[in-house]
Amino acid sequence: MAEVFKMSDKAGQAKGLPRHIAIIMDGNGRWATKRGLPRTAGHKAGAETFRRIATYCKNIGVQYLTVYAFSTENWKRSADEVGAIMGLLKKYLLEAVDTMEKDHIRLHFFGDMTPISPELRALAHETDEISAHLPEGDFQANVCLNYGGRDEILRAVREFSAQCAAGEKRPEDLDEALFSSYLDSRGIPDPELIIRPSGELRLSNFLLWQCAYSEFYFTDALWPDFDEAELDRAIASYQKRDRRFGGVKK
Ligand code: FPP
Repeated sequence: MAEVFKMSDKAGQAKGLPRHIAIIMDGNGRWATKRGLPRTAGHKAGAETFRRIATYCKNIGVQYLTVYAFSTENWKRSADEVGAIMGLLKKYLLEAVDTMEKDHIRLHFFGDMTPISPELRALAHETDEISAHLPEGDFQANVCLNYGGRDEILRAVREFSAQCAAGEKRPEDLDEALFSSYLDSRGIPDPELIIRPSGELRLSNFLLWQCAYSEFYFTDALWPDFDEAELDRAIASYQKRDRRFGGVKK
């Protein structure tokens, strides 16, 4: 953690620890295949990495961590693999229900939960209820499940237009702030840093609206091998960036 400045350090604030980090947890399958293991073993290891990195983010003072766990396109995978990922989510949700209050960890889901099993949906509802009782400043993990950036935008547009048709909203009132309030990420600042491990250089339908001014960090490490040192490197790289938001350097 040597080069990373904590939120609590004065220098850290000047250097700017990201308040919100988002991660595409990629490379689980390749990690398993390299070891002669089934792909599901990679997801199991990847879920442990999620736990470890979420704990680390909380400890260094990052407020939000958003992870891409299952995309709207991931249903194309075998029933075995989909079942294994859903099983892992259930295991971690059951654990979260017991520990999040004590550990001051809020948990939230992004995505269209309609096709998700009633059991998982009930657990997600339970973690939402517990989160609602925790202070807003507590660390929050957002898990993207049956999530797609395009789908999120379409769901927002559908909801807003239905309200317009019902006479509750006027199209001319729509601005970026109002539109953001229809997204799964409503109330959460956009991620300053988006990380993709595993050597792939694409966004794969992740946080398409929210990434407008995000900084990107790519690494060849496969997600199960991603560790605290790797996150430190990503944050250190972010801290060297010159963020101008379309303006010019003063
Ligand atoms: C991408 O790697 C990973 C996924 C589609 C699943 C991620 C799910 C988990 C880590 C488990 C559950 C999550 C939580 C938060 C408990 P890939 O399978 O596409 O890897 P590959 O590109 O090497 O095939």
